[in-house]
Amino acid sequence: MEKKRVLSAIQPTGDLHYGNYFGAISNWVKLQEKYECTYGVVDYHAMTMPYVPKKLRENTWDIVFSLLAVGVKAENLFIQSLVPEHAELSWIFNCFCSYGQLLRMTQFKDKSAKAAETDFISAGLLDYPVLQAADILIYRADYVPVGQDQKQHLELTRDIAQRFNKVVGKEYFVLPEILYTETPKILSTADPSRKMSKSAGEKHYISVFAEEARIRKQIRSAVTDMGEQPSGKMSPGVRNLFELLRAAGDPQGLYEELKSEYESGALRYVQLKDAVADALVALSKVFRECKAELLENKKEVKGAIKASSAEIRKRAQQTVREVKELAGLLNVKC
Ligand code: TRP
Repeated sequence: MEKKRVLSAIQPTGDLHYGNYFGAISNWVKLQEKYECTYGVVDYHAMTMPYVPKKLRENTWDIVFSLLAVGVKAENLFIQSLVPEHAELSWIFNCFCSYGQLLRMTQFKDKSAKAAETDFISAGLLDYPVLQAADILIYRADYVPVGQDQKQHLELTRDIAQRFNKVVGKEYFVLPEILYTETPKILSTADPSRKMSKSAGEKHYISVFAEEARIRKQIRSAVTDMGEQPSGKMSPGVRNLFELLRAAGDPQGLYEELKSEYESGALRYVQLKDAVADALVALSKVFRECKAELLENKKEVKGAIKASSAEIRKRAQQTVREVKELAGLLNVKC
């Protein structure tokens, strides 16, 4: 039986951290065993908010090397701007997407509020989910592994596919589904009331390539008790440390023991913190070494990604040819 197709993508917004890794990317790596996976670094999406052109290209390559270092296979990875058909299909989809529905996207509302501070909200920001629909449908994906926050965008993608099918009178696109998997939501260790994220500042994320001293310092200073908790409830900071330990594979097998100590009230948080720090230090060491090795062969690696993007592009071109045909547009050979 043919393998089902999986598509996901990440924006090149700098340093990969443990929130991204445990929440999404480690799952991408695993899915490669069972599905035909295609993963994009979506640089066209990164232009929707105010940005610096030179930095964008740097970040794009950096995230490529980071993804490869943590186990994404080169042949599954492409850079969106090397497959310009995404932009072409996105134009076509614009005409199959309701403008009102775009205005109702919660991500647009959040991000446009932020962009308004700089007095500039791009039309690209409103159109962002249409480009996302193109990313997904251009590869005729069956499954899209994303978090709850992307549910609305997936629904929009399905609506576009349905409208397209209806107008052209053919069940051309299969409707993609979200692939939900148990992935932990990692919180900021400095402020467990928010998720781990780069945008909140240095203290609020731990890079997967962080040096030992940095990891130990951040975990040591992790917030544990945050005032009164409803009785019997673990505070979010402590729960976050347990999540991190489990997600990191608990190499020393301490999770259960620490948990029962917690339950009996005998846990000293420093024990838990040391276990978490040890596990992350070991993981980061491997990632750092892999990335360093890839960077030593920068030219070859970049060549491999350009080649995989070109290979993946052929599939995108095929879809766009068929879509243009169905939509009443012209292809060169007709
Ligand atoms: N919007 C996604 C995010 O912010 C990134 C993304 C762009 C994406 N295109 C996609 C995710 C296609 C899945 C499929 O995380």
